[in-house]
Amino acid sequence: MASRALRSSLAISKTSLAPSLCHARPIALHGHTTYVRHSQTRSISAYGYTQAKALTFQDYGEPPSVLSLHKHSISPPHGDQLTLRFLASPINPADINQIQGVYPSKPTFTTALGTPNPIAVGGNEGVAEVIALGDKAKSAGFKRGDWVIMKAPGFGTWRTHASATSGQLLKLEEHAREGITPIQAGTVSVNPCTAYRMLRDFSLLKEGDWFIQNGANSGVGRAAIQLAREWGLKSVNVIRARKDRAAEDKLKQELKEIGATVVITDSELQSQGIKDMAKEWTNGGKEPISLALNCVNGKAATAMAKLLSSGAHYVTYGAMSKQPLTIPASLLIFKDIHFHGYWVSRWSEQHPEEKKKTVEEVLDLTRRGKFKDMPVDEIKWDWETPGEELVAKVKDTLEGYREGKGVFVFGQT
Ligand SMILES: NC(=O)c1ccc[n+]([C@@H]2O[C@H](COP(=O)([O-])OP(=O)(O)OC[C@H]3O[C@@H](n4cnc5c(N)ncnc54)[C@H](OP(=O)(O)O)[C@@H]3O)[C@@H](O)[C@H]2O)c1
Repeated sequence: MASRALRSSLAISKTSLAPSLCHARPIALHGHTTYVRHSQTRSISAYGYTQAKALTFQDYGEPPSVLSLHKHSISPPHGDQLTLRFLASPINPADINQIQGVYPSKPTFTTALGTPNPIAVGGNEGVAEVIALGDKAKSAGFKRGDWVIMKAPGFGTWRTHASATSGQLLKLEEHAREGITPIQAGTVSVNPCTAYRMLRDFSLLKEGDWFIQNGANSGVGRAAIQLAREWGLKSVNVIRARKDRAAEDKLKQELKEIGATVVITDSELQSQGIKDMAKEWTNGGKEPISLALNCVNGKAATAMAKLLSSGAHYVTYGAMSKQPLTIPASLLIFKDIHFHGYWVSRWSEQHPEEKKKTVEEVLDLTRRGKFKDMPVDEIKWDWETPGEELVAKVKDTLEGYREGKGVFVFGQT
């Protein structure tokens, strides 16, 4: 069925498009070469079929071994369907875990992209523009040119184009989108929402209150720093120590400039003098540190828990070090620290309206210059960009100390 759709989508003869061949690109299918118009002209064929490319995988594994660029076509939308053109999609750590098969939310494996065996598209977050839609989707409040983000993970956002139904999408209203770049819209729904909800939903922090977090240089960490500054909260921010001392000092300074009160390394956190340092920051220990946000685990995460005041809340939302989290029983018995987990996917599913509001609030802060973009490594994705280049960028995400988060930014697709 799917391959029939693919064949019919490409049934445009050389002759019928001959005058416009300079705007066409050849596609080889089953030994024949045919031509499809360029877009907007390029990606929409004469019969309304949209040509698309996606980074897909058939089996779980390490991204460089299992990811490849797959070309397919999308039939014209009808009913509740919308055809999307992606604008920007980040590469988040969870995307990698999902491809490795170790993430609880599974991607959608399908043959609808014209392959004999089911494949899935990588990526969970991104922003896309509606380029065509059926009548029901129009009645649901969408129109051409709208910007949309995904309601739930598993959609597959590392692709030039996609077909979706209205229920899968959250529309960014005109007022929310005004003055916002595709990268800002494409990265708002996971990290900033996670930081926002963790700061708001576990401990009743008031202006002047302290929290502590590790992974402070991550997308979530930087979002937490900036929201905290906006809300008048004070933060202790733990980063990984760098071999290059100058680079470490530069990063500390950078985080202070976006609102961090204190920045220390994981080595400093585990040093002898940490209790005294904490006393110094918190007015001799009179100001409690009542919330911790942990995305790292291992020994440094245990050290972070020890700085909390009695009755504080400790929220774990990631596992970057791949180490377990070890909690001394005394923290539970004598200090009554409350340990929680947080997963933005679950929260978004349970609170769709609240998610929309949170996204809009962060975009509003962004528009007003109060929420700065995290550093990004923009990965340009044009129609002709080779798959190997894109896969190599996904691989980079797994390695070392990065200058910025990889974000696919779609150009001429
Ligand atoms: N539970 C949820 O709902 C939820 C939502 C969003 C994100 N997350 C999790 O939050 C974490 C951060 O995500 P993100 O997208 O914000 O990250 P990101 O911007 O891609 O940055 C990755 C961060 O991880 C740190 N890191 C990498 N390897 C590490 C290691 N071995 N030990 C300690 N730190 C390490 C990096 O530290 P350097 O700065 O030193 O390079 C960097 O700050 C991830 O674990 C992600 O899965 C969870």
